[in-house]
Amino acid sequence: MTPSARVAAAIIILDHILEGQAAEAALIRWARASRFAGSGDRAAVRDLVFDALRRLRSRAALGGVLSGRGLLLGMCREEGIEPASLFTGDRYAPSALSDAEHQAGHTSTPDEALDLPDWLIPLWRQALGPDATPVALAMRDRAPAWLRVNQRRTDPDTAAAALAEQGVATAPHPELPTALRITDGARRLATCSAYREGLVELQDLSPQMACALLPARGSLLDFCAGGGGKALALAAQGAGPVTVHDIDAGRMTDLPTRAERAGVHLRLTAPGKVTGRFDTVLADVPCSGSGTWRRSPDAKWRLTRDELTQLAALQSRILTQAAGFVADGGQLAYMTCSVLSCENDEQVQGFLNENPQFERILVRHFSPLSASDGFYLALMRRR
Ligand SMILES: C[S@@+](CC[C@H](N)C(=O)[O-])C[C@H]1O[C@@H](n2cnc3c(N)ncnc32)[C@H](O)[C@@H]1O
Repeated sequence: MTPSARVAAAIIILDHILEGQAAEAALIRWARASRFAGSGDRAAVRDLVFDALRRLRSRAALGGVLSGRGLLLGMCREEGIEPASLFTGDRYAPSALSDAEHQAGHTSTPDEALDLPDWLIPLWRQALGPDATPVALAMRDRAPAWLRVNQRRTDPDTAAAALAEQGVATAPHPELPTALRITDGARRLATCSAYREGLVELQDLSPQMACALLPARGSLLDFCAGGGGKALALAAQGAGPVTVHDIDAGRMTDLPTRAERAGVHLRLTAPGKVTGRFDTVLADVPCSGSGTWRRSPDAKWRLTRDELTQLAALQSRILTQAAGFVADGGQLAYMTCSVLSCENDEQVQGFLNENPQFERILVRHFSPLSASDGFYLALMRRR
């Protein structure tokens, strides 16, 4: 595909997303209908679409209209590309710009430049204070890819060498050497034996840093285990036995295979069937995902105030439920991949007010300025 044809494809896909289709579904639909597109084309179109979603407001402002065409025109103006070089009107290319399109568009206002929904900006500022603008701006860029070295199976140097041999270059984090940032060859990872054999797992730096702060021994319950990213990390770190639970058992379907590949043992529990008390209980609750909007930027525009209110109520219920499984003297870890106070500090403070038998022992706010994705950890102890 020519660069113009890729832009034309991105315009169509973005229009479907703006009509309400999920980004991944819209990309899959286009790929199925476009067998002529090779893997390089698909990756390039995906990048155009996701870059536009990360910068939806500012690019629509520059392009003069919130539409696929407006967003791609906004991209040209932002990146200093002559629009006529892509909007050529040739076969497979977007039609040439009209006079109205030439005239339309303005430089973003300060709020538009944050690329956040209007209703959320006050909450964002309240949560992040002086970091509000730099964190919002960081969310407009692509996220780096991080790997967690599985300490059960290998060490960071051996893992990095095995990856490099198969074309994936990495750099260790200076304070957490088991976290490797992919510096080149990310798209080759899926074919690497080190990845396929469980020597490394894809996991962002921020949750890795949060897990490294949890107790590395004793019984552990991951109450909202989902795909099991945290449970696998904690089991590899030395916690055990590790029990995993999720209200939706289907979310844990792949966990036995992942655990076997990683060389760790997890005890699966059916929904609502957890019994006993644990040294550590992890509540990695459902959240807005506001810390991960670089990776799933369409979620940034789909979130509503009502959904956020409902999520906060659910988080509060789960935290109270999970607390019931903490042994005397044991620890309760509350985590979200959000940066919003209503899902983080306010949630934990509300819980502590109602549950004086727990005390807060550690709180960490991770962001692209200090780590990678926005992420929150509060560690509490049952007295
Ligand atoms: C943020 S995800 C967990 C991600 C997972 N810990 C990981 O590291 O991959 C939240 C999970 O909470 C589960 N969940 C939602 N409501 C729940 C509840 N009432 N009790 C337990 N799990 C719940 C969801 O099904 C979802 O899998």
